[in-house]
Amino acid sequence: TWTMAGFRDLEIARIRKQVGTGRVICGLSGGVDSSVAAKLIHDAIGDQLTCIFVDPGIMRTGEADEVVKTFRGRFNIRLVHRDASELFLKELAGVTDPETKRKTIGRLFIEVFEEEAAKLGGAQFLAQGTLYPDVIESVSFSGGPSVTIKSHHNVGGLPDRMNMELVEPLRELFKDEVRMLGRELGIPESIVGRHPFPGPGLAIRIPGDVTKEKLDLLRKVDVIYLEEIRRAGLYDAIWQAFAVLLPVRTVGVMGDGRTYDQACALRAVTSTDGMTAEVYPFDFAFLNRVAGRIVNEVRGINRVTYDITSKPPGTIEWE
Ligand code: XMP
Repeated sequence: TWTMAGFRDLEIARIRKQVGTGRVICGLSGGVDSSVAAKLIHDAIGDQLTCIFVDPGIMRTGEADEVVKTFRGRFNIRLVHRDASELFLKELAGVTDPETKRKTIGRLFIEVFEEEAAKLGGAQFLAQGTLYPDVIESVSFSGGPSVTIKSHHNVGGLPDRMNMELVEPLRELFKDEVRMLGRELGIPESIVGRHPFPGPGLAIRIPGDVTKEKLDLLRKVDVIYLEEIRRAGLYDAIWQAFAVLLPVRTVGVMGDGRTYDQACALRAVTSTDGMTAEVYPFDFAFLNRVAGRIVNEVRGINRVTYDITSKPPGTIEWE
């Protein structure tokens, strides 16, 4: 019978056979897929693996630290941590068009990754946390309609340019199986159970130009929202939940004073693969509590809305 432990052992043998005594580099993003791929490969070949974590400065509060602590600290995996937040912010300054944002971020990830890989002296193998749905999607997309809704930057491009052989131990798995494998490998639940997070990060949750101030404001809202979701025991029932910082100022009243501050939107959806999604039906008391906390605790936000658009016709992210 098929078991996850059996699958793990088989993959470990396969990785050893493919890689031999070669060197592997793996881009860590903080997400489930690259985390599981990295840990599995490390279990197979130890220090022949080096991970490169490019921190773009557009992640959620605490997530970059957690990646470093978990992989370098707890798992003892060789990890290059490159804080590229200043570079990303500089290149994103004044960029408002969603596709330009995505392409800018994608280009920077690749450039910085290549730079760090070169510093390591290169490697024969590049590890990626490609899943089965990614394989299918890129196949059907290549023969499908030529409309790009959003350019995802985490697939393709890199291996061709860098002339490396791919190691993709997850390419037969679906998301829920990757999570099971991650648990089998001892990766903490806070990473294994984490909601999907897009490569372009918080930048595509800030319509308009992205600045450090806006990122910090959005992070404060996001932390409260997710804290309340966890506290209510709803995190695992939701595919993805996040806040969006709206480029809109509205009038409000606080104490005896008038405010003229920014509005934010909250989003939460259920989904099985991200291709379609339904709005999560929070009860009103929950939304009310979250909105109350946000306007009281986050200076600069005085209005909260809940996004009730399913996919289609909306997409999950706002850009
Ligand atoms: P959309 O917004 O297209 O998102 O409905 C579908 C799912 O994909 C995630 N997403 C991305 N993931 N790189 C990623 O790794 C990206 O560029 C990207 N854009 C969107 C999104 O968070 C949702 O889970």
